[in-house]
Amino acid sequence: MSVQDLLAATIRDLVKPGKGILAADESVPTITKRLAAVGIESTLETRRAYRSLLLTTPGIGDFLSGVILFEETLGQRADDGTPLPLVAARQGIVPGIKVDKGTVPLAHAAGDLVTQGLDGLADRLKTYQAQGARFAKWREVYPVTDRNPTALGIETNAETLARYASICQEQGIVPIVEPEVLLDGDHTIERCAEITEDVLHAVFHALHRHQVSLECVVLKPSMVLPGKEHTPKAAPDVVARETVKVLRRTVPAALPSINFLSGGQSPEEATANLNAINVAYPRAPWELSFSYARALQEPVLAAWRGKRENVGAAQQAFLFRARLNGAARQGRYQAQAESSIRG
Ligand code: 13P
Repeated sequence: MSVQDLLAATIRDLVKPGKGILAADESVPTITKRLAAVGIESTLETRRAYRSLLLTTPGIGDFLSGVILFEETLGQRADDGTPLPLVAARQGIVPGIKVDKGTVPLAHAAGDLVTQGLDGLADRLKTYQAQGARFAKWREVYPVTDRNPTALGIETNAETLARYASICQEQGIVPIVEPEVLLDGDHTIERCAEITEDVLHAVFHALHRHQVSLECVVLKPSMVLPGKEHTPKAAPDVVARETVKVLRRTVPAALPSINFLSGGQSPEEATANLNAINVAYPRAPWELSFSYARALQEPVLAAWRGKRENVGAAQQAFLFRARLNGAARQGRYQAQAESSIRG
């Protein structure tokens, strides 16, 4: 298959009505924090058991088209010995891989960060591809203060995302491009909108400069929200209006799918906001879906707590949350459904 055919086939499998992407690609320090929060020690084995639990959930492929894995998971196996990427593929879920190596401070842009990991990326992608990965993810983060992100930060992060995306496409790997405007702080929704517009504008300009084929890219942005410490919170229709306004101004119609991150919203908020976005913009040129980590996984971890006897309940919690997001992604979510898991 040519590289172009490979990319097109992966996009076809990743962009499906009623489905979204699970981010299960936490680095070891991050997953250790998440496991510790529910009293589980993070070991190679508990991380394997947890990610197996997610991927072996019966029926989860009805609501997920893709899963972003961490490097360690790509080489791990389910209890029956099946490699985890194959477990995902058998559920109709395309396996992907987080390829960035985290952030460092950006020189001459106090408060801004830039993501590392471009060196040797093409070779790493070849290895990941041999292990079953068909798409990749790279995240740049933008802290919000009165001065951040700076113009230099926005340009450097955009350039880095575009370099990553072009390296991926050259290898036949679909890039998920993730520019995350952080939720931390007490800024207004207007400030978030202004920054997100500047960030996305720079990202698409850079993708164009690097001749990245937009037809074979998935965008994973943050929603436009007020800062976590800002009161009051914004209602879903306001989040939807502001988010859609920014996306319409910045994202070319050639891009097939926008899969939001959850960014620290509660599971219920992330679902309600995604639903409102789809209600506000039913005939968008792109799919408007999800690629959540915390908003899908929090209830699963809380139900599991590392105990074998809780696996069924944890999988049920996962399927439930995925189903609600599958509905929200089509503008068909009803908040009353939240109470039905107990029924
Ligand atoms: P959250 O949905 O928890 O923000 O995570 C998404 C993600 O993949 C961060 O890189």
